[in-house]
Amino acid sequence: MGYIQNANMKYSNFYFVLKLNLWYTEDCGFDYITNESGYFTVKKIVCDSYEDVCSYAADIYAAQLKDKPDSVLGLATGSTPVGLYKELSRRYSKGEIDFSKAESFNLDEYYPIDPKHPQSYDYFMRENLFDKINMSKFQIPNGGAPDPIAECTRYDSEIDKAGGIDLMLLGIGLNGHIGFNEPAVSYPAGTYLVNLTESSIEANSRFFGPGEHQPVTALTMGIGHIFKSRKVLLLISGAAKADITKKLFEGKIHTDIPACFLLLHPNVTVIVDKAANGE
Ligand code: PGA
Repeated sequence: MGYIQNANMKYSNFYFVLKLNLWYTEDCGFDYITNESGYFTVKKIVCDSYEDVCSYAADIYAAQLKDKPDSVLGLATGSTPVGLYKELSRRYSKGEIDFSKAESFNLDEYYPIDPKHPQSYDYFMRENLFDKINMSKFQIPNGGAPDPIAECTRYDSEIDKAGGIDLMLLGIGLNGHIGFNEPAVSYPAGTYLVNLTESSIEANSRFFGPGEHQPVTALTMGIGHIFKSRKVLLLISGAAKADITKKLFEGKIHTDIPACFLLLHPNVTVIVDKAANGE
């Protein structure tokens, strides 16, 4: 918490191997990866298309909210969840899904940024989801807070007060980041101020106009909140993500690929389209 990572920090390529087994069920859309004890299990679902990824993910949300209407949802930004948010909004407008008792916490936000700035994640979430559904309690780290460290502490205590996250939605960066947990040697557990890597700055530059100021730091939930989430849903789409997807499913815990930590979580579903699966 209140920890600033050095984006230029040299990290080691140290990793250890979990001895994962991989097998297929009768539906070749499903793979399960588990270690020999069967304790660490990641469910991988391969869909034909991005639309199918979003529809499958929306089914998981619908089931979650049916089972526990007051679920605490962890939400993500970026291109990947846009189709899911569209599908959730569509289902809400048809009366198929109800968010009235749910609440949400977003993973991250640029810092500093005015929450009303069109490139803020606050703005993104309102445009893509919050303005279209009936969820009244949603929180995003405040990119406009005067003291980022105090904001991180506040955000952590709000997540704790809500009882932690039931279903955490994630995308993955080309560099393996989850939220803005960038490749590093160590990862703070709570929300922290992070220096973005060149890779993330470059990947997100497409959203900023020429000459428009692009933040190079952000507030992000740490690995601890992600890890403590009761269920994790990781969506991966597009050929550009095929390399990082392959690395993730090699079953090695690379300390410099933050998403690898998900292999240790007991309830992770990864939904990939064929392009991201290298097919
Ligand atoms: P993307 O970003 O969905 O825009 O590819 C994912 C991420 O960086 O987490």
